Amino acid sequence: MIYPIVKFPDPILQKPAEPVTVFDDALRQLVEDMFASMYDAQGIGLAAPQIGISKRLTVIDLSFQKKPEDKIVLVNPEIVAKSGKQVEEEGCLSLPEIRDRVVRAAEVTVRAQDAYGKPVEVSGTELLSRALQHEIDHLDGILFIFRLSRLKRDLQLRRIRKLQKAGEW
Ligand code: NI
Repeated sequence: MIYPIVKFPDPILQKPAEPVTVFDDALRQLVEDMFASMYDAQGIGLAAPQIGISKRLTVIDLSFQKKPEDKIVLVNPEIVAKSGKQVEEEGCLSLPEIRDRVVRAAEVTVRAQDAYGKPVEVSGTELLSRALQHEIDHLDGILFIFRLSRLKRDLQLRRIRKLQKAGEW
């Protein structure tokens, strides 16, 4: 099924998600539903809280269905190493129309489990590194606008309030 995307300021987006402890068919169905919901929303990454489910689970597909090997499923992910710095523009399905440049590590290594509970490790640079950090932030209740300077964050919050007032959010 395709879930609607939860938007800021829904509180589920701003609280840490619960670890996944049961690796059953329901979890694997949820993973499939998350990919379907992400593609439907034209996204390249989606975290479970963004569909209203407070679990430590995220999916990423930077090639957007073009390369099956690009599909990444991360259950209970943790960043175990990071290095360097990159500053690029970011967006988020939960913050439609909002984009800004965010400081991130240039390279990260993530340890997680797959949908069967098997340990997996993913390392990434550039866009993959950014996506990994952005999605894991979601599981900790952090949206990218809260990684901006206070001045830029306040500007974006004002834009959001304007869009809400205009009924465009
Ligand atoms: Ni996001």
